[in-house]
Amino acid sequence: MDIKSVVVIGAGTMGSGIAEWFASQFVSVELVDSNQEQLNKAITQIHRSWEKLVEKEKLTSCKINQMKPFLEVKQLQNANKNADLVIEAIVENLEIKKNLFTDLDKNFSEKTILASNTSSFPITLLSEAVKEERKSKFIGLHFFNPATMMKLVEVILGKNTSPSLGQDLYHWFDSKGKKPALCKDSPGFIVNRVARNFYGEPLRIAETEDQAKLREIDHILKEVGGFKMGPFELMDLIGVEVNYSVTCSVWDAYQQEPRFAPHKLQKQMVDEKRFGRKTKKGFYTYE
Ligand code: NAI
Repeated sequence: MDIKSVVVIGAGTMGSGIAEWFASQFVSVELVDSNQEQLNKAITQIHRSWEKLVEKEKLTSCKINQMKPFLEVKQLQNANKNADLVIEAIVENLEIKKNLFTDLDKNFSEKTILASNTSSFPITLLSEAVKEERKSKFIGLHFFNPATMMKLVEVILGKNTSPSLGQDLYHWFDSKGKKPALCKDSPGFIVNRVARNFYGEPLRIAETEDQAKLREIDHILKEVGGFKMGPFELMDLIGVEVNYSVTCSVWDAYQQEPRFAPHKLQKQMVDEKRFGRKTKKGFYTYE
């Protein structure tokens, strides 16, 4: 298998990082978003991120100039309908994602692989949105934040996904330096299932937004636990609203088992639109 052309839908935190990573591999990628302002912001951020890598001498400006033509921003109606792969990275809402997949199924070539970057929805459930003939080419590709740096990609096979497609994508990502993992189509897959308690228990320990407590818990998990980021810093990076919807969806999928229950603080912060870094206010405040 070779992936030469990709369309990434959703130019938010994940979609822009995924698109940036494909361009860095010299794979043609078109980044799409229903919000033109978000699309402009994403391309500016990607170019800024490349400039920073040059400043830090991690990449040469020559390599950046070679990468740039591989990344384009488009409206969905103008995207390449014969792309090898489409990755959906829009809002974590089942109905909105399913509507998009029905549309993609109608408009993209039958050879195009359709993938979702969903954090929590079963791939088999999402695949209900496409025709029977497409289901073998419908798969989960779950990248991690920031997608340019995090090596893990969960490759999730739905009930009707062709096993050979899973193997082929596994080997393709492996050959590009990612660390793929083939996962069962179970709620939260591997990481988001295990990670529920990484967020849930610290929330239950802190109970409130007492800054000293949050900082202490983050500090302990980094210094003693060896984690790169503490749970509160990480929720602010992921997006409190994204993390909350994943928590609710995994909790529901496990028949509301208490160990997966969301914390009242999460809902309160979402209601107040304190999403973390992207709104400059989350558990912490940002400049
Ligand atoms: P985000 O909120 O940063 O970005 C979503 C983007 O999708 C927005 O720019 C929005 O304008 C666009 N959008 C919404 N509906 C659309 C539509 N119908 N057509 C085209 N564009 C549309 O969200 P984020 O954090 O990038 O998450 C995207 C997906 O990735 C979600 O499924 C989430 O669960 C998953 N994910 C998120 C991670 C994170 O750390 N934030 C990590 C791994 C997966």
